[in-house]
Amino acid sequence: MLTMKTAVVLTALLSSALADPKVVQMEVERRPSTQRMAQLSKRDDVANVTLSNAIFDGLYFVNVTIGRPPQMVQLQLDTGSSDIWFFGPGSCSSSSQCRGGEYDPSESDTVEIIGRGDFFIRYGTPGSRVEGDYILDSLSIANVTVQNLTMAYATRARAVTTGIMGIGFPENEAIVALGGDPYPNIMDLLVEQDLINTRTYSLYLNDLDSKYGTILFGGYDRARFTGPLRTLPIQPESDGVIRSMTVAWTSLAITDGDDTTRITSGSFAEAALLDSGSTMSLIPDELFEEIVDRFDVITDSQGLGFASCETLEDDDLTLDFGFGGEDGLTIRAPMRQFSLPVWDITGDPLEFTNGERVCQLGLMPQSALGLPIILGDTFLRGAYVVYDLDNQQISMAQIVYNAVDSDIVEITEEDNIGEGPVITGVSVTQTATGAPAPGYEPTSTGSVSESESDDDDDEDAGIPSAQVPGLLKSIGVTGISMLAGMALFALR
Ligand SMILES: *[C@@H]1O[C@H](CO)[C@@H](O)[C@H](O)[C@H]1NC(C)=O
Ligand SMILES: *[C@@H]1O[C@H](CO)[C@@H](O)[C@H](O)[C@H]1NC(C)=O
Ligand SMILES: *[C@@H]1O[C@H](CO)[C@@H](O)[C@H](O)[C@H]1NC(C)=O
Ligand SMILES: *[C@@H]1O[C@H](CO)[C@@H](O)[C@H](O)[C@H]1NC(C)=O
Repeated sequence: MLTMKTAVVLTALLSSALADPKVVQMEVERRPSTQRMAQLSKRDDVANVTLSNAIFDGLYFVNVTIGRPPQMVQLQLDTGSSDIWFFGPGSCSSSSQCRGGEYDPSESDTVEIIGRGDFFIRYGTPGSRVEGDYILDSLSIANVTVQNLTMAYATRARAVTTGIMGIGFPENEAIVALGGDPYPNIMDLLVEQDLINTRTYSLYLNDLDSKYGTILFGGYDRARFTGPLRTLPIQPESDGVIRSMTVAWTSLAITDGDDTTRITSGSFAEAALLDSGSTMSLIPDELFEEIVDRFDVITDSQGLGFASCETLEDDDLTLDFGFGGEDGLTIRAPMRQFSLPVWDITGDPLEFTNGERVCQLGLMPQSALGLPIILGDTFLRGAYVVYDLDNQQISMAQIVYNAVDSDIVEITEEDNIGEGPVITGVSVTQTATGAPAPGYEPTSTGSVSESESDDDDDEDAGIPSAQVPGLLKSIGVTGISMLAGMALFALR
């Protein structure tokens, strides 16, 4: 009797321990894509398309609350930067719009302002900059509260649409770029305050059609990927320091059903940022050209591509990204995850003259914006990605879409997350996350100029227009550079 009772108690204890891994899981929400709109003026077979508001499309948000009483803000989740900031009172400009709400430090009982005017960050998005004050306050995500976290509220912001939750390495904090010392950021404090065991998180962006994905701090979920989870070392910058989520990308192939064509050479090896804060993926120009030719993509002078949705959304098509060399891992990213629908300003689908729907290609040539190679959300929707800041490793596996089950594994210090040895075949150096490329002119990409004027109400200034041949006899694409989406990784 006693034995049995003990067994029951033990089982209960055991199952409660299993049911409660030390993890923090939150939903990430993708903005509805109906905001990606185009103004179409059409005469005969010639059309001009002006895309607007596309900047909001495809961003992944989390809800967090700051301070006491809690003030809710929505932040964009960003693996490409390491600071958390939100809009403060009066910080909006026309190019920022303060989506996601504001935080007012005077309303928080728990705030301590620790650095007035000391916060300054620029992102890869052309013309972006944020200035503000550093604070200590509490931040609540999902079911936990992190006390005494260093964050910032903006006093001025430009060309950034929402506050940002950067979850990268402390070495990449904006203050370090300005010569300061890193502070313990959210990943550090989640561990220090015993809410998770290790500085790790798993990102599951899910399907383009799904509104929600998840981020799981301190664990991974076996129900959300298939095949082996394999591990790559994160690659350093030229000074040997690891600051960004950079891996060695070593091949690209196009698969159409049973037919796979590799479009990279055997020696191809590039440093690629796995950046959740970038809506598009930026790839070398020659690879972009191959894809453009293959899928009848119409491009404008800035490298924006448009194609028939039907062509891109073929379920047999994948872009196969290989990492770590010949014996490395491959993610077969479905082509449809790179197909971003475009509506006209009245909310009707934008169509070519032959009646096929227009989709924007979720790839851009890297040189167009002078930015590093980025595997952004369009790629990340094809993978389950475990970021391990403690071991400076990234593990990836093929994603399972719309998983309903959950099989969460807590990551402890001793864990080797991936299957098999770490893939160390190929090393690369990240050289491109610093200042924009020489000669790079933010003004050449449209409305967000580097002028020092405070009020940048120049939404339509200097917009380049391109006439490009395509399914329409001619389609002119005008707009602002940001219609390519945001590129949120910290510039130094
Ligand atoms: C938070 O919720 C997760 C389940 O999502 C649970 O495993 C974890 O123990 C919870 N943490 C705390 C501090 O309650
Ligand atoms: C965030 O909060 C808003 C408003 O309460 C809600 O509609 C939305 O679903 C929430 N999103 C997430 C990711 O929790
Ligand atoms: C397209 O834009 C060009 C340049 O702005 C203009 O000259 C042309 O008339 C426009 N075409 C249509 C069909 O609106
Ligand atoms: C918060 O951190 C500061 C310095 O980092 C420290 O002086 C203070 O005691 C901390 N407060 C709490 C409540 O932990």
